Amino acid sequence: MTEKLASLTFSDGTPKADFPVMSGTMGADVVDIRPLYGKTGKFTYDPGFISTASCLSKITYIDGDAGILMYRGYPIEELAEHCDFLEVAYLILNGELPNKKQKHEFDNLVAHHTMVHEQLARFYSGFRRDAHPMAVLCGVIGALSAFYHDALDINDPRHRDISAFRLIAKVPTITAMSYKYNVGQPFIYPRNDLSYAANFLNMMFAVPCEKYEPNPVLVRALDRILILHADHEQNASTSTVRLAGSSGANPFACMAAGVASLWGPAHGGANEAVLKMLAEIGDVSNIGKYIARVKDRQDHSMLYGFGHRVYKNYDPRAKLIQRTCHEVLEEVGLKDDKLFKLALALEKIALEDDYFIKRKLYPNVDFYSGIVYKALGIPVSLFTAIFAVARTVGWIAQWNEMISDPDQKIGRPRQLYVGPGKRAFVPMDERK
Ligand code: SDX
Repeated sequence: MTEKLASLTFSDGTPKADFPVMSGTMGADVVDIRPLYGKTGKFTYDPGFISTASCLSKITYIDGDAGILMYRGYPIEELAEHCDFLEVAYLILNGELPNKKQKHEFDNLVAHHTMVHEQLARFYSGFRRDAHPMAVLCGVIGALSAFYHDALDINDPRHRDISAFRLIAKVPTITAMSYKYNVGQPFIYPRNDLSYAANFLNMMFAVPCEKYEPNPVLVRALDRILILHADHEQNASTSTVRLAGSSGANPFACMAAGVASLWGPAHGGANEAVLKMLAEIGDVSNIGKYIARVKDRQDHSMLYGFGHRVYKNYDPRAKLIQRTCHEVLEEVGLKDDKLFKLALALEKIALEDDYFIKRKLYPNVDFYSGIVYKALGIPVSLFTAIFAVARTVGWIAQWNEMISDPDQKIGRPRQLYVGPGKRAFVPMDERK
C-alpha cells in the first residue's frame, strides 16, 4: 500500500514538508506532525485540542456525526441492554467480554476489595460536614497512594492490574462514605453478596437499625447509567489522567487529577448544573425567558446538559438515559414528575430553536441523568461523584493503555509566546 502523505507549504520561504497520514480502524485519518518542529522549526496551535489526536487508543470509538459510541467495538446500546457494569468494566479493561468463569472471578475480585483501610475513614472527620463530595473524592482517592506501597510500580503490569481493581472496588465505597458523612449517619460497610450497583445503593441508604432491600428496577437503572458513563475516549478528565500519568505519577494520584477535571460544569459537573438550572427555571412557562438569557452573550447563562465537542447529531447516551428515566419515574410513582416534564419541554423547545440548530447543540449524557439520580434519592451534590464512580473504569483503562504504549512520552505541549520581548532589568529604587 502506498503511504499517504500530507504536504505543508509556507508563504515565508520555509521549504515544503511532507508528513505521513495515519489511518485507524474507523474514523478520521490523522496527520502525524511529530517531525514538524524538526523539519520546519514551527509548532502547531490548537488550544482545546479541536483538531488534535493525543494518542492511539483501542478502547472507545465515537462517530459524533452519526451519534455512534462503541466500547472495544461493541455498540453502547447493546452493552447497556445485555451487560451489567462489571462485565463492561472487564471489557474496557481487558479488550474482550468475559466468559462465565472470567466474569465470576472478576466480580469476586472486585467484591473482595470494596472495603477501605479503617485509617482512611479518619480522613473524613477532617472535612466539614457540608464538604462537597467531589472535594472529598479528590482528597481521599489521592490519599489511597499512601496505603498501597505494595503495588505502586507502574512498570509492572501486575501492579497496574491490582491498582485497577482496587480503584474500581473502592471508589463507590469512598463516594457513599462522603454522603454518609454529609448527613451524619454511620458509614455502611460494603456487602459482597450484592451486585456492584446494589452494593452502592446499600452503602448509601442502609442504616444499622433497619433492613434495606435495594429495589431491582432502581439497581438496574443505576447499573445502566454506570455503563453509559464508563468511558468516552479522550474527554477532559481522561486526558487529564493521561497527562498526569505521563510523568510516571502513581495511578491513585492520577485518578484524583481526573476527579478534579470532571468536577467542572462544562464536563461532569453539568449533571448537577442541570438540576440547579431546572430548579431555577421552575416552570414550563419560564422556558422562553431562560432561553433568551442563554442567547444573550452578556448574561453568561448556559443550557447545561446541551452541546458536545464530538456529538453534532445526538449523544446516544442521552437517548438511553431518557428511556431509563421513564422506567425509574414509573417505578417510584413519579410518572408526572414536574422536573422531568420541564426537562422534556426544555429539550423540545431548544431543539426547535434556530440558535441551537445552527450550533448543532443536542442533549448530552448529563441532561437526563440527574433526574434519574434524584428519583433514586441521591442528593444533587453527589451526582458528579457518581459519574466519577463509573468513569474510574475508563480512567484506569486509559492510564494503563498509555503506560503500556512503547511510544509513550511525558505530555509536554509547547506555546506561542506573546509576552514582552527581552528588556533591561530595572533596580527596585528606579521603578515607578
Ligand atoms: C461531558 O468530551 C466528552 O466526551 C465529555 C463527556 C464524557 O462522557 O466524558 O461526554 C461528558 O462533559 C458532557 C458535556 C457536559 N457539559 C455541559 O452540558 C455544559 C454545557 N455545554 C457546553 O459547555 C459545551 O457544549 C461543551 C463544553 C460540552 C462543548 O464545548 P465546545 O465543543 O468547546 O463548544 P463551544 O463551547 O465552542 O460551543 C460552540 C458554540 C458557542 O457559540 P458561538 O461562540 O459559536 O456563537 O455553541 C455555544 C457556544 O457558546 N454553546 C452553547 C452551549 N454549548 C455550546 N450555548 C448555550 N448552551 C450550551 N450548552
